[in-house]
Amino acid sequence: MNEETLRRTLTGDLPALRIHYFAETISTNRLAKAAGVVDVSFEMFVADRQTGGYGRLGRTWDSPSGNLAFTLLWREHGISQREAPKLSLVTAVAVTKALQKIAFEGLSIKWPNDVLIDGRKLAGILIEQAAGGAFAIGIGINVNSTLNDFSPETRGERMTLREKLGRQLPREEIFSEVTRLLVQKLEQFQKGDWPNILDQCRSLSFLTGREIEVREGTRWIAGKGEGIDDDGLLLVSTSDGLRQIASGDVRVRT
Ligand code: BTN
Repeated sequence: MNEETLRRTLTGDLPALRIHYFAETISTNRLAKAAGVVDVSFEMFVADRQTGGYGRLGRTWDSPSGNLAFTLLWREHGISQREAPKLSLVTAVAVTKALQKIAFEGLSIKWPNDVLIDGRKLAGILIEQAAGGAFAIGIGINVNSTLNDFSPETRGERMTLREKLGRQLPREEIFSEVTRLLVQKLEQFQKGDWPNILDQCRSLSFLTGREIEVREGTRWIAGKGEGIDDDGLLLVSTSDGLRQIASGDVRVRT
């Protein structure tokens, strides 16, 4: 994988997209956040491996060579701060639909930002604010790594496309399909078509109907996933009634 092969696979009606490729960097989200304010709507930062990849809630994101780690910097989007939390779900739908299109099965979305395959984490999404009100949309997909590449603590919850298929995959194809779908879904969202994206998200939702626990501060609250509301919040029925969760950590009760 290099800048040239990435650019070549990115065909189709994509708006002008500037790509920056790095064999190694600390974190593509960090790069995107440090980028200057220029007149380009979409700018992409891709790395073969990250030495300091991170996820939500201050967690480390393992980024060995062979996986995909990239951040799309989206400027001039016109999305208000209030709408911003929905972007995680828009991105999750794009990643899931792209992988389905390439012919993967068993995919689902674990609210608010994980893509699962056979119930195990395949991809993570981290959206941060960047300079000038831009969004840094970071995506990590476990492609060609093996379960041994993960720490013993997380190994049981992770999955990679290589483990699923029993062979390695060309990352360019996945990068290209995900980028295409991502830009398409972001523009669909920008035009106000959240209801359709939400429908897709609901039908892919992993937590709906499951016994789960949601962390609130230092305690875990038990309940049942009741789906995603019109604003993209997680609905959980608990012993205190129906709760709407805006952000946080969720785990499935076993
Ligand atoms: C999570 O699971 O909490 C989100 C993980 C997001 C990882 C991606 S990899 C590309 C980008 N760079 C980072 O440092 N993080 C995101």
